[in-house]
Amino acid sequence: MLARLLQALGIAVVAVPAGGLLFFHMSGSHDSPLVPIAMSAARAPQTAMPYTIAAIIAARVELPENLETPQAEQTGAHLFRENCVQCHGAPGIAATVQGMTPAPPNLLRTGRRNDPAEVFSKIKNGIPGTAMPAWGDQIPDQSIWALAAFLHHYRGISADAFDALSTTEAEPGEGTH
Ligand code: HEC
Repeated sequence: MLARLLQALGIAVVAVPAGGLLFFHMSGSHDSPLVPIAMSAARAPQTAMPYTIAAIIAARVELPENLETPQAEQTGAHLFRENCVQCHGAPGIAATVQGMTPAPPNLLRTGRRNDPAEVFSKIKNGIPGTAMPAWGDQIPDQSIWALAAFLHHYRGISADAFDALSTTEAEPGEGTH
């Protein structure tokens, strides 16, 4: 509830499971500090239990330089096709996992914000109380940044372009710097 309220106000919110840290991106700009808020209550699936705010401490997600390189974006597109389309779908690809509440949004729709720092945190930490898993243990940070670069740069991508970009492996050894 709190997260959704803040999201409606344009404040990016990322909730982290296990012990409960909620990250606020105070201004929507990449450069603004992320402020984590410790919480004592977890949101059970499909209920709207409010978080209890216990403490506020300052923290920061550093945005990598040269985030949106063609190579990183291609890596991101490939990872997205491998790991994410079954729930989120993509242009030309229908989601195969159905019936989730809340439902996974179409992340490549024109007009989405897809702020890279916010997207990075949500992919890494997941969204507690929803079907969105935390990928931090499975996908290295550099590749999560590649996903964030792809999702930001390629909002509104066509089905053909997505197919071409996501079925080609990026050159090894390079990604987001
Ligand atoms: C098992 C299904 C599932 C998989 C797999 C999955 N997601 Fe999600 N994802 C969700 C759901 C459900 C939500 C919506 C949560 C909500 O509304 O709070 C979501 C939300 C998100 C959001 C936040 C969207 C927003 O509006 O803020 C991002 C970003 C995201 N997912 C990225 C990814 C990426 C990248 C992958 C692959 C590495 C992925 N997801 C894989 C189910 C999934």
